[in-house]
Amino acid sequence: MSSFAGKNIVIGVSGSIAAFKVAGWVSALAKAEANVTVIMTEAAQRFVTPLTFAALSGNRVHGQMFAPDAGEEMPHICLAREADAILVAPASAQTLARLAHGLTDDLLATVVLAAQAPVLVCPAMNSQMYNHPATRANLKTLRGYGYHVVEPASGALACGEQGQGRLAEWEAVWPCLLRLLTPQDLAGKKVVVTAGPTREAIDPARFLSNRSSGKMGYALAEEAMLRGGEVVLVSGPTALAAPAGVRLKPVVSALEMYEAVLAEAADADVVIKAAAVADYRPAEFFADKVKKEKIDLSLKLCANPDILLELGRRKRRGQILVGFAAETGNLEAAGRKKLAAKNLDLIAANNVKADNTGFAADTNQLLLLSADGGSELLPLASKSALAAMLLDRVAAFLA
Ligand code: C5P
Repeated sequence: MSSFAGKNIVIGVSGSIAAFKVAGWVSALAKAEANVTVIMTEAAQRFVTPLTFAALSGNRVHGQMFAPDAGEEMPHICLAREADAILVAPASAQTLARLAHGLTDDLLATVVLAAQAPVLVCPAMNSQMYNHPATRANLKTLRGYGYHVVEPASGALACGEQGQGRLAEWEAVWPCLLRLLTPQDLAGKKVVVTAGPTREAIDPARFLSNRSSGKMGYALAEEAMLRGGEVVLVSGPTALAAPAGVRLKPVVSALEMYEAVLAEAADADVVIKAAAVADYRPAEFFADKVKKEKIDLSLKLCANPDILLELGRRKRRGQILVGFAAETGNLEAAGRKKLAAKNLDLIAANNVKADNTGFAADTNQLLLLSADGGSELLPLASKSALAAMLLDRVAAFLA
């Protein structure tokens, strides 16, 4: 599973009022069990004290190129060597200029120059400074070095002006950072994931649906994105926010999902159908709310198209199709039958009757059955951990 745990992350904080926001980021990374070391430029130390970052990271904060207590060690080389990723946030105009031109007149710029680790830069400054051709040129240069940039947001700035220059939010930054720490085995691959239930309208007030929460599909979409995939998430109505970096296509009914999935699947490398698509819809939609006085109401249903069956028919050479089978009986028999009938490469069967493997649970247990006869019972685990295990198998198929 993509995770910050055990990773050495160097955070370079430079002089911007947004430096205080990064304290929260350090805290979040430390909670996620990353080993965080903070380097502060001299200007940054005027906004936030090193003690704040030391307390939150649990590590000494480095602020000087020639620290009197550094002893034999060369901090710029040690920090550069040990880093798995470097995050420069907030990156001031001055720090961007230093990095772009390889100026090593402070510890942060020197460590970045000496490191081989991937670098993620989050600029924050007044919008005039941000839009100045000098800053634009420096950012272009940094991108040319292979550095990654999370653009600042637009809005009210600390200087009182409006414009682009606000430090990006952590929700936008952490997926980019985690992606730099995750093997990119789905890089360049288009991955379509479906999630959640569908709703089949009876009248303007009522619908038929099921208990799917969307958690499994959303976990799959996030993990595929972190592994470098270009991810499209076709989702029925859920209470979940789409993972950053994933293209969300919201749908409501099975027929809408059918249209959206077939359009996206045409050029997809991988399609994973984790959605619990309603098999039936009301044969008739009542344009006005059905009155309760109509006590003898019976609903006539008609079958929805089986999206996965259609995808199996249209499957291209090299395309990987993964289905789910929500079962209450014999997982293996039901899974094998669907795997063959729908022309799938892999099916993940799960028991939706148990509390900890069902629809709304945070955990699940999957029986993976593959077209080559393989069968593997994955352990009971979080849906994120299972998403990673399932995508390991998908990546192996692609390779
Ligand atoms: O046959 P069954 O509905 O149990 O198969 C489940 C799998 O088929 C899931 O992957 C589900 O997303 C997909 N499915 C579908 N279209 C339907 C019903 C199910 O794509 N109408």
